[in-house]
Amino acid sequence: MEFLLICLLFNERVELLQSHLDDYLPYIGGAGALVLTGIAAYYATKPVPETPLMPLDCQSNTLSGVAYVRVSKFYNESKEGKFVSYIHDDVRTLYDSFRKGAKESNNGQCLGWRDGPNKPYQWLNYNETLLRAKNLGSGLLACGLSPGPQTLIGLYSQNCPEWILTEQACYTYSLVVVPLYDTLGPDACAYIINQADISLVICEDDKKCNLLLDKAPRCLRKLIVIKPTRPATNQRAKNRGVELLRFEDIERTGAQKCYPEVPPKPMDLCTICYTSGTTGNPKGVMLSHQNVMAGVCAVLLQLGDHRPNSTDVMISFLPLAHMLERCCENGMYIVGGSVGFYSGDIKTLPDDMKALKPTVMPAVPRLLNRLYDKVVAELQSSFLKRMIFNMGMRAKEAEIKKCIIRNNSIWDKIAFRKIQESMGGRLRLMVVGSAPLAGNVLTFARCALGCLIVEGYGQTECCAPITLTIQGDYVPEHVGPPVACCCVKLVDVPEMEYYASNNQGEVCVKGTNVFYGYYKNPEKTAEVIDEQGWHHTGDIGMWNANGTLKIIDRKKHIFKLSQGEYIVPEKIENIYIRSQYVHQVFVHGESLKSCVVAIVVPDVDVVKCWASENRIPGTLSVLCANPEVKRLIHDDMIAWGKEAGLRSFEQVKDIYLHPDPFSVQNGLLTPTLKTKRPQLKAYFKPQLEDLYQNLD
Ligand SMILES: *[C@@H]1O[C@H](CO)[C@@H](O)[C@H](O)[C@H]1NC(C)=O
Ligand SMILES: *[C@@H]1O[C@H](CO)[C@@H](O)[C@H](O)[C@H]1NC(C)=O
Ligand SMILES: *[C@@H]1O[C@H](CO)[C@@H](O)[C@H](O)[C@H]1NC(C)=O
Ligand SMILES: *[C@@H]1O[C@H](CO)[C@@H](O)[C@H](O)[C@H]1NC(C)=O
Repeated sequence: MEFLLICLLFNERVELLQSHLDDYLPYIGGAGALVLTGIAAYYATKPVPETPLMPLDCQSNTLSGVAYVRVSKFYNESKEGKFVSYIHDDVRTLYDSFRKGAKESNNGQCLGWRDGPNKPYQWLNYNETLLRAKNLGSGLLACGLSPGPQTLIGLYSQNCPEWILTEQACYTYSLVVVPLYDTLGPDACAYIINQADISLVICEDDKKCNLLLDKAPRCLRKLIVIKPTRPATNQRAKNRGVELLRFEDIERTGAQKCYPEVPPKPMDLCTICYTSGTTGNPKGVMLSHQNVMAGVCAVLLQLGDHRPNSTDVMISFLPLAHMLERCCENGMYIVGGSVGFYSGDIKTLPDDMKALKPTVMPAVPRLLNRLYDKVVAELQSSFLKRMIFNMGMRAKEAEIKKCIIRNNSIWDKIAFRKIQESMGGRLRLMVVGSAPLAGNVLTFARCALGCLIVEGYGQTECCAPITLTIQGDYVPEHVGPPVACCCVKLVDVPEMEYYASNNQGEVCVKGTNVFYGYYKNPEKTAEVIDEQGWHHTGDIGMWNANGTLKIIDRKKHIFKLSQGEYIVPEKIENIYIRSQYVHQVFVHGESLKSCVVAIVVPDVDVVKCWASENRIPGTLSVLCANPEVKRLIHDDMIAWGKEAGLRSFEQVKDIYLHPDPFSVQNGLLTPTLKTKRPQLKAYFKPQLEDLYQNLD
C-alpha cells in the first residue's frame, strides 16, 4: 500500500510547527500574563492517570495444573480451561451481533461512504442495512442457491458498504462467505472457486469480472456486479456460459420473494478465508460464527473502558478479505458503532479521514512506519524543530509511563496537533496488528497521536487475535498476554535451541477462536493442529516474566542429515550471503546424504571485476562454468562460514554457479522476495543430483 498521504500530512505538520512556535515563544519569554494563562491552562487540563486493568508485572495466569500454559486474566474461568465465546448470552453469531448493534445504536448510522473528494459521508442506518442485506440474501436464494452453511458464496471487492451487505445477506440465510482479493492473483482465484465449487461470485466492477472470466472454472455460473460493466464484458460472460447480474436487481427480486430468514447456529461455518502461503496453493481457513464471535468478544473484554460503543466511528481501509479488518468491523457492529469506508484509493485516505473524523482505526505497522520516517526525515532540516520534537517526545513518554493517555498537553498543541488532525482529529483507539512493529515507532505513535494504541498478535487460523497488549502497558516490543478466547503454550524446538523450560518455543494455541481446519485439506490441517487440538503457529515466542508474549523468530525449514544432525538452511544462507561474490544462495540437503550443497547466483559485478583483473574472459554464464571462479567463491563462502561458527556438516561441500537470479517472475521468489524452497529444489533437480553424484 502506498501511504503517500503521509507526505501531505507531514507538510501540514511542519507549517503547524512554525505557526504554533509563534504562539509558544511568548510563553518561554515569560510575559507575566501569558505565564499565568499557561499555568491556568495546565491545571485546566491537568492529566489524570488511569489505573491499569491489572498489575503490569503479572499480566497473564497459568492454566491450573498445567505448567507453561498461559491464559487471560480477563476471564476467571480461563484458569479452568474455559474460554470466552460470547459476551451476551443471546448474541452468539454474527447474525445476532449485527441485530444487537442495531438495538444498541437505536438504529444509528451503520455504513458510511462518500461519492468523491469534497463530498460528505452518507450513511445507511442499521435498520436499512439489515433490510437491504435480507433482500440481497433472499435474492441469492431466488438465484437458485439453497440456504445453509453448505452453500459458499464468492465475494471479490474492495471494502465498501456492499461488502458488508453481502456478508450480512449470507448470514441471514446461513450462507458462507469466501472472500477473493487481488493479491491472490487470477490463478489462485480460479483455484479457490474451483476447490470451493462456487457457482456465484459477487464482484465489484468490470475489471474484476474480466479477471475472473479469464480463468473461469466450469462451476462458476453467475457473477453479480456491484458497479456497471461494459457491454463487451456481458458478451464475454455469455460466451463462457456465465450469467452477469446487477447487485440492485438481486436486491429487488429478493424484496419481492421475501424468503423467510434462516439464521445460522454458532458452530456453523461463517467464512472460508483463503491465505496464500509461500508454497503451493492457497489454503482455505474454515471459521465458524463462534470462532469469530470469540475473537471479537475477547478483544472487547480486554479493551475495558476503552472498548468502542455506539458513539464510535471506525475508518475502514485495511482489506476486509483479511480477518484483522473483518474482526474490527464486526467488533464495531456488535456495539452499534459506525464504519465509514475509504474511497478506495489509499492516496485519498487522509482526505477521507478528515471527512470522516474516525475515533477508531485498525492499522498495520507499515502505516506507522511511513508516518515515523516522514517525520524523522523532516526534522533533519531544522535544529529548532528537532529540539521541540524531542522535548515533546520526552515529556509525553514520561506521561505514558505514568499511564496518562491524552492529546491536550501543551506538547500536543505545539508539536503533535497536526499529526492528530491529519488522522481526523478525533482518534481515541488504534489497534495494530499483522506484522512486527518496531518499538521506537510504537512509542512515537503513542506520544504523537495521544490515543490508546494496542498491539496484537494473531493468525487467520485463530480468526485473528491470539494476544493483545493491555491499556497502561507502555513498553513496546511485545504482544501482550493471551486474549480470553484461548490459551497459549510454547513448545520445544530443539533443532533451533528453543526450549519451553527456558520460556521459549513454538507458539501453540487452543481455544474457541481456533479454526476447524483447512477446507478439503486434511493433510495440511494435520500438519498444524495436533491430536490434543493445539494449533501450531510456526512462530517462535518467548514469555516475559510479567506474563506477556514476545515473538522472537519464525520456525524455519529444517531437515536432518543421514548422520542425524539438524540443518537450518536459512541460517546457513544468511551467513554465506555475506560473501561479496554471492548475490543469492540456496542451500540444500537430504536426509539420505551426509552433507549439504548449494546453488549460488554470483554477484555479476564483483565476479566480472575479479575475472578481468585475472585476465579471464567471458560472460557471466561462461565464468560460472569456470572451475577457478567456482573455487574462489566456494572458498570465500567456507571462510565466512568458519568465521560465523558453522559446524563442519553445516558447510556446503560443493556448489553450482547459476548466472540467472532467482526472481518473482521465474517463480523462485515470493512477492515478498523470500525464496520458494520447494520450487528451487524442483527447478535445480538435475544440478543438485549432479553435485551429490560427484561427491559420492
Ligand atoms: C428498527 O428495527 C427494529 C426491529 O425491526 C424496530 O424495533 C425499530 O423500531 C426500528 N427502528 C426504527 C427507527 O425504525
Ligand atoms: C462511549 O465511549 C466514550 C469513550 O470511552 C465515552 O466517553 C462515552 O461516554 C461512551 N458512550 C456511551 C453511550 O457509552
Ligand atoms: C483527543 O482525545 C479525545 C478523547 O479521546 C477525543 O475526543 C478528541 O477528539 C481527541 N482530539 C484529537 C485532536 O485527537
Ligand atoms: C515486562 O517484562 C519485560 C521483560 O522482562 C520488561 O522489559 C518490561 O518492561 C515489563 N513490562 C512492564 C510494563 O513492566
